[in-house]
Amino acid sequence: MRYSWGMLVGGVRGALGRLFLACPAAIFFLLASPAGVDGADYVGSNVCRTCHPNVYSTFFRNPHYKSIASGRETPANTGCESCHGPGQDHVAARGGKATIVAFSQLAPEKVVDACLRCHSQTLSRANIRRSEHTQRDVVCTNCHSIHSAPAPKFLLAKQQTELCYGCHSSVRAQFSMPFKHRVNEGSVQCTDCHNPHGSFAATWNMAARPRMVDQVEGNEEPCLKCHVDKRGPFVYEHAAVRVEGCETCHMPHGSTNPRLLKRPVVFTLCLECHNGFANFGRRLDGPPNPSPTHNLADPRYQNCTTCHVRIHGSNASQVFFR
Ligand code: HEC
Ligand code: HEC
Ligand code: HEC
Ligand code: HEC
Ligand code: HEC
Ligand code: HEC
Ligand code: HEC
Ligand code: HEC
Ligand code: HEC
Ligand code: HEC
Repeated sequence: MRYSWGMLVGGVRGALGRLFLACPAAIFFLLASPAGVDGADYVGSNVCRTCHPNVYSTFFRNPHYKSIASGRETPANTGCESCHGPGQDHVAARGGKATIVAFSQLAPEKVVDACLRCHSQTLSRANIRRSEHTQRDVVCTNCHSIHSAPAPKFLLAKQQTELCYGCHSSVRAQFSMPFKHRVNEGSVQCTDCHNPHGSFAATWNMAARPRMVDQVEGNEEPCLKCHVDKRGPFVYEHAAVRVEGCETCHMPHGSTNPRLLKRPVVFTLCLECHNGFANFGRRLDGPPNPSPTHNLADPRYQNCTTCHVRIHGSNASQVFFR
């Protein structure tokens, strides 16, 4: 087994952490210092400028410059050294990758640790450690570029859509379908529906994995923040909408069918459920069969939504006529 300074320091920290359990301030101090190189000294960001002029010269545009500008942070939380750790050894050695926290050398989980030291506070990243991305080693620096982001906002490594397509090429094809959300045209973004930092367990379609689908007020589907008329609550809810969720009937990205529907012919969609099977619902007989008046051989009856127009729920008609 190989031992590294990181492990040694980690071990010592663990022990100290247990010793100081009664003293939260001491624990905070120990946890709040950057990983790996405790004991060494901070030299301040100006020293870095000499040898890393390119990085330094654009840094004033970076949101992390705030710590230098304010001058109110501790050395461990100021400027370059807030992420790269104390620089004294590095400067004395006149450079090198082993004398400083070099992200190019860090394992993915160490990158997550380094960034979450400051960025673990907000709810939008509460699930980051168990997100599909983190679990597959897609970490902060895959999506964010601290020193060469094209735009300072969110420090994204690329414009968002291109960033996501870079790894999810099949999704690009879905947004090129005849009926789609206009992501490629820039009017909708992946993050309108997804949280790339990981989402909470969905409150709809609860048997399924959430697929990092974001939630809006009241743990609802993100669709409702734009399609507000579908929110309800309705006097007569269509259980399929409320319980199963929008993606039961719609392809959220794009579809070859109008209205982003999953099936080209509406009645085949309805009859997936309204077929006399199952034993749930208000009358414990499942989604009711269309009554015998429905002659499904008659084209008039095939387009269910010409009569059942309020298919997402109604305040006036139990069978969604108005
Ligand atoms: C918010 C954390 C953070 C701060 C603050 C920061 N860096 Fe970096 N630095 C990184 C990360 C992460 C990388 C890895 C490359 C990337 O993702 O952009 C990096 C890469 C580098 C590199 C490698 C070469 C390169 O251009 O990628 C150098 C040199 C460097 N940083 C120097 C500095 C200096 C000098 C400062 C202060 C002016 C600084 N860093 C401030 C996070 C930070
Ligand atoms: C005397 C010149 C000098 C000074 C001062 C200096 N560096 Fe470096 N730094 C280097 C050299 C040389 C390298 C090695 C580059 C290489 O191997 O590609 C390096 C590498 C790095 C790397 C690793 C880059 C990578 O590839 O991941 C980081 C991060 C870094 N420096 C940050 C800093 C920070 C932060 C400061 C200020 C505290 C600083 N440097 C001050 C010369 C210097
Ligand atoms: C020393 C604490 C600290 C560390 C470590 C740190 N950050 Fe930050 N980060 C901040 C602060 C403070 C801001 C500015 C917040 C603001 O603008 O109010 C910021 C801003 C950001 C923003 C921009 C947010 C926006 O709204 O535009 C991103 C993205 C970001 N950090 C990513 C990272 C990544 C990735 C890492 C790890 C490489 C990292 N940070 C490490 C403190 C830190
Ligand atoms: C799969 C890509 C991806 C990964 C991995 C990722 N981010 Fe982000 N992050 C984004 C995108 C995209 C946005 C912009 C969100 C928006 O437009 O609303 C963002 C926004 C942010 C913001 C600013 C908005 C906010 O939520 O506060 C911060 C800070 C941030 N990320 C930090 C991090 C940190 C820290 C990590 C690693 C622990 C990380 N991100 C990992 C894609 C990613
Ligand atoms: C560096 C590559 C990479 C980037 C960049 C990236 N992803 Fe991912 N993403 C993955 C991997 C790997 C997985 C897990 C395997 C899978 O399910 O495809 C994943 C999973 C997902 C999932 C869950 C899929 C599921 O089946 O549960 C969603 C949703 C997602 N990514 C959205 C995004 C969005 C939105 C962005 C842009 C902000 C993005 N990704 C950027 C690599 C990436
Ligand atoms: C209109 C909302 C919406 C937008 C915009 C959106 N998604 Fe999705 N996405 C969803 C929903 C909902 C699911 C879950 C579908 C399911 O579970 O059947 C999903 C599933 C996924 C999956 C996993 C399933 C699959 O098809 O591989 C990935 C990966 C993904 N989205 C990536 C992206 C990327 C990348 C973007 C931006 C280019 C994006 N999404 C934009 C709503 C959206
Ligand atoms: C950011 C806002 C936004 C979000 C979030 C959103 N949509 Fe949309 N949606 C739109 C816009 C705008 C259109 C109009 C399509 C166009 O560009 O012509 C649309 C169109 C649609 C259509 C087709 C309407 C028609 O008349 O053909 C359906 C169906 C739809 N969305 C369902 C969903 C579902 C399901 C979700 C959640 C997975 C969702 N939307 C999330 C903005 C949004
Ligand atoms: C039971 C299946 C089903 C579910 C679940 C469902 N829809 Fe629909 N939706 C439809 C059908 C069928 C149409 C087409 C109606 C028509 O052609 O008149 C439609 C049409 C739409 C339209 C375009 C026409 C309009 O009424 O604005 C939007 C937008 C839409 N749905 C959004 C949503 C959202 C958001 C959800 C989740 C809250 C959702 N749908 C859940 C079946 C469903
Ligand atoms: C995912 C399954 C599912 C799909 C798909 C679905 N439904 Fe339903 N539907 C239900 C359930 C469950 C109920 C509620 C049954 C109950 O409460 O007893 C319901 C109730 C109804 C009712 C009210 C019945 C009553 O007397 O209360 C009508 C009308 C209806 N659905 C029509 C449709 C039409 C038209 C479509 C196709 C656009 C459709 N449904 C698609 C599951 C579904
Ligand atoms: C020409 C108008 C019309 C069309 C088209 C139509 N329905 Fe109906 N549907 C009705 C009427 C009227 C009722 C209520 C009276 C009754 O039960 O006959 C009803 C009732 C229902 C009910 C509730 C039955 C119950 O026992 O509570 C369901 C379920 C239903 N329809 C499903 C469908 C499906 C699925 C389609 C498409 C295959 C469809 N309907 C097409 C007129 C229509």
